[in-house]
Amino acid sequence: KSALPEKYTMRPLQRSDYAAGVLDVLKVLTTVGDITEEAWTERYDWMAKRGDEYFVLVVCDGSGKCVGTGCVFVERKFIHNLGLVGHIEDIVVNKDQQGKKLGLRIIEALDYIAEKVGCYKTILDCSETNEGFYVKCGYKRVGLEMAHYY
Ligand code: ACO
Repeated sequence: KSALPEKYTMRPLQRSDYAAGVLDVLKVLTTVGDITEEAWTERYDWMAKRGDEYFVLVVCDGSGKCVGTGCVFVERKFIHNLGLVGHIEDIVVNKDQQGKKLGLRIIEALDYIAEKVGCYKTILDCSETNEGFYVKCGYKRVGLEMAHYY
């Protein structure tokens, strides 16, 4: 697999990443809200206890600032012989960092994790405008997404 740009790193999300700007990256994707460091840390700790279920990665630039992130959530099923399914969620790269293959590298890494932990497939929902990106990452369109908002 190819490398990140020079001086960029990819690693699991850390407890200190509030300060590294991970929530600012997520704001490029959608509404994040006004989350205090304390609230962020509480959620981080909750996820960290479920370390075989939530895998969140960040890409940082040479200065240590988060510029991209992505998650795979591993769902445990009864069907398919107690099968595991990976759900790719919240993939985002800062606007001024897009087009450097960071998104592709995040997906490759999440796919690697999902396969290693034993998922038989990984699925995701995305908008039509992002279909081409996921096709480049090896995904194909199947089925139909539905949602019920509360
Ligand atoms: N449509 C078609 N092709 C695309 C698109 C697109 N929207 N975006 C990237 N590509 C192509 C690139 O041209 C590149 O092709 P190449 O290999 O032929 O050069 C390939 O896909 C890989 O692109 P990257 O440079 O890795 O993409 P980038 O780092 O810019 O990340 C991303 C793509 C994550 C979609 C980014 O544009 C972004 O953060 N967008 C805003 C947030 C968002 O919409 N995230 C996805 C939400 S869906 C979900 O999370 C499950």
